[in-house]
Parts: sequence; C-alpha cells; structure tokens
Amino acid sequence: MEVLVLEGLNTRTSVQVDAGPVLSSDEVPGSFARVVWLVPSDGRVPFINPEEKEMLAHALAQQARRPSGLLGRLFGLGMGRINRGVNDFVLTQLDIRPNHKVLEIGFGPGKAIQQVEQRLTTGRVDGIDLSGTMVAQAAKLNRRAIEQGKVDLRVGEASRMPYRDQTFDRIFCVNVMYFWPQPERELAEMFRVMGEGGQVAIYIGDREQMAGVPMTKTGVFQLFSGQDVVGLLLDAGFQDCRIVETSIDQGPISRGSCVLGVRPRGM
Ligand SMILES: C[S@@+](CC[C@H](N)C(=O)[O-])C[C@H]1O[C@@H](n2cnc3c(N)ncnc32)[C@H](O)[C@@H]1O
Repeated sequence: MEVLVLEGLNTRTSVQVDAGPVLSSDEVPGSFARVVWLVPSDGRVPFINPEEKEMLAHALAQQARRPSGLLGRLFGLGMGRINRGVNDFVLTQLDIRPNHKVLEIGFGPGKAIQQVEQRLTTGRVDGIDLSGTMVAQAAKLNRRAIEQGKVDLRVGEASRMPYRDQTFDRIFCVNVMYFWPQPERELAEMFRVMGEGGQVAIYIGDREQMAGVPMTKTGVFQLFSGQDVVGLLLDAGFQDCRIVETSIDQGPISRGSCVLGVRPRGM
C-alpha cells in the first residue's frame, strides 16, 4: 500500500488506483495503490515530524512549479479538479471567438486547453508549459484536437516563447505567475506575441490566503496582489487593465484575482 499525502487541499479523498489508469484518467479504478489526498483543515498531519513536513512542503512546491514523474502526474490530476473552477471563471472573462488564436501559458493537465478548443471553429489554441510531464498529460487529453491541427502544445519557458510577434488574440495563464522571479520578462514576452487589440488574463490566488499555505513558504513562490499585476501589465505596455475578484473554493484558497488587460492598437 502506498500513501500519498498532499497537504494544503481541504478535501480528503481516498481512492484505489491502478498504476496504469491513474496516470492518464480522472477515473481511478484498479488495485495497485491507495492514494490519500489528505488535507486537514487545521494544517496538522499527525504522522510526520516538522522536518519531514518542511521537506514535503518543498517537494510539493517544486511539483507545483514544474510537475515531474509519478508525483507530477498525480499532481496534474489533482490540479485538473481543484483548479477547474478558477479556469472556468477566467474563460468567462475572455471574449473568445470561434476564429481566435489563443495561447495558454502553464496549462498543466490541459483541461482549459480542451475547453477553449471546443469553442473554436477556424481558430486554434497553443499551449506552452515548462513541464514535459504536463505536456504529455495534456497531449493525451487533447489528442484528437492535436491531430486535427487545432491544438499545439510545447515544452517551453514563458520568458522565451517560440511564437512570432503579434500571433495571438487571447492569452491566459492561471496560477503560474508565482513562479516568475522577474515577471517583467514573461510579461514583455506576452506583449510581444499578443496581437493588437488582443486581451490577456492572468489569474492569481489571494496573496494573504496564499501566504498561509506551507507550500508558499518555501521560497519557490512569489506572491502578488491584483494591483501588483496591474502595475506590471501597464509597465509591459498593456492598457485598460482591471481586476475581477473571485470567490471560488480551492481548499485553503477561496479568493483570487483575474487581472485583465489589452494590447493597444498601433503600439
Ligand atoms: C500550479 S500549475 C497550474 C496549472 C494550470 N494552469 C491550472 O490552473 O491547473 C503551474 C504550471 O505552470 C507551469 N510553469 C511554471 N513556470 C513556467 C514557465 N516559466 N513557463 C511555462 N510554464 C511554466 C508548470 O509546469 C505547471 O504546469
């Protein structure tokens, strides 16, 4: 029996998983291992000591930044469920039309990519993510659309993207900005690949709530307020920036900001 403890989520789910299906499906039948997603609301995990707790927080933070290996694949499945609400919300804020070229940065398990693709007719959605593990997971989910040429997913860095200037009508990124120590670089790159009149949406969890989660105290995360993001977007050249506050339950995080901006025409 294997027990996996993921601290920081406020649900407790135990599932029987099979080594094969669990790696590729939300449905987790089988008998290989017992995986426990454990989230005590008081933050205490009874059977690990403080040093182990710190190591766990660090390991989870690294997985959030760049999921890898078996834990990364499980992490991806977890993110697909937990982040669904905020991803849905962000997509409602972006006026995505059927002919748009859309980019998601840091797509993780690729569920939002799939949702966007289903709205498009002549349009197309590209995704870039630092993690090869996530690209493989998301590619499996979006296999048919990739074969049809409607989706293209790549391993890469948001600060150096392999796209031509002014390619996209919409760019979004959810729960990724924490991992950019110098976000000016990534935002300048987003501005470069955004078409004139194109709209950007960046989602971040509430800074104060995030600061209370052990994973964010590891030095891996950098926390921002919505106003911080507005300032950075304006510095990058975006205009008409505004914050839409959200209240969506994601375990210890129940508030967040979707920050929107537009690349002006003629710049
Ligand atoms: C916390 S996950 C969020 C995934 C997804 N957006 C969601 O809402 O479930 C962060 C994702 O961003 C990716 N990522 C982190 N830094 C990145 C960077 N500099 N460029 C591209 N992707 C990055 C990670 O590999 C990971 O898949």
